[in-house]
Amino acid sequence: MDISGETKVCAILGDPVKHSLSPTMNNAAFKALDLDFVYVAFRVRREELKIAIKGARKLGIHGLNITMPHKELVMASLNEIDPHAKAVGAVNTILNLGKELVGYNTDGSGALEALRDNSVSLNGKKMLLLGAGGAGKAIAFQLSQELEELVILNRNAKKAENLAEVLRKKQKKILGNILSAKLVRHELKDSDILVNATSVGMHPQAGQSLVPRRLLRPDLCVMDIVYKPLETRLIRDATSIGAKVVNGVEMLVHQGAASFKILTNRVAPIQTMRQAALEKLAGSGTVS
Ligand code: ATR
Repeated sequence: MDISGETKVCAILGDPVKHSLSPTMNNAAFKALDLDFVYVAFRVRREELKIAIKGARKLGIHGLNITMPHKELVMASLNEIDPHAKAVGAVNTILNLGKELVGYNTDGSGALEALRDNSVSLNGKKMLLLGAGGAGKAIAFQLSQELEELVILNRNAKKAENLAEVLRKKQKKILGNILSAKLVRHELKDSDILVNATSVGMHPQAGQSLVPRRLLRPDLCVMDIVYKPLETRLIRDATSIGAKVVNGVEMLVHQGAASFKILTNRVAPIQTMRQAALEKLAGSGTVS
């Protein structure tokens, strides 16, 4: 890597951020396209986010990715926010235009592309979405209009109900309710696609799944946004009964690819990014 005074610097800000796969994925992509960019990670505490963004602006950092727990708070430090990110209420990508910082959210399009890339169509389908946190919200906003029906279940029922209420203004068949074993069983019966957008299945909740294996069917498509471990309990169970599965790396890579496009104005080398992420996960010993 040849870094000079002209090299464009991009970074991810979060807390924790040590284990982020974004530097690995993006540096691999810069190298593949021979771009004079470099990507690093900065741990930024909540109370220091505002000053960190100010610093990034002063230093001429070209672009940023924002991860937990800053996706909502960061919006107050931006000059402009694209309409989709504004509707979702969270930003995960910032482009520094010199005088202006512009915010975007690529989580939803990442989920959409992950499904498309795995030949899953949404048209006329019913989706059961578990989780109405940051990622769940972005997914619901992006996918709701293409689906025939969307049911959002969340542990905190209010969040699911509120999200459904907002989305119903554009699409009628959207329901938000509490995440209970009974409702999962009931709603899954006639669903075509199941998406886990909760952190259940991820360390320290690894080995757990919100959906018992006996409820899964071979004609169901199962997507999990958890990628550590890569094979979550849900993905393992779905694979074992012959369902179509889309693992968490797919959404990670596709949201990263959409961010890459915003930051570099180039189409991302998706396979390079996927390979880099998978190798890093395998090397870190957290795949299972
Ligand atoms: P992210 O940005 O990754 O979506 P988040 O906004 O903190 O992170 O959302 C985490 C999601 O996982 C939420 O839907 C959360 O449910 P609550 O809104 O009720 O907190 C869900 N979640 C986390 N642990 C859970 C558990 N043990 N059972 C069910 N849902 C859980």
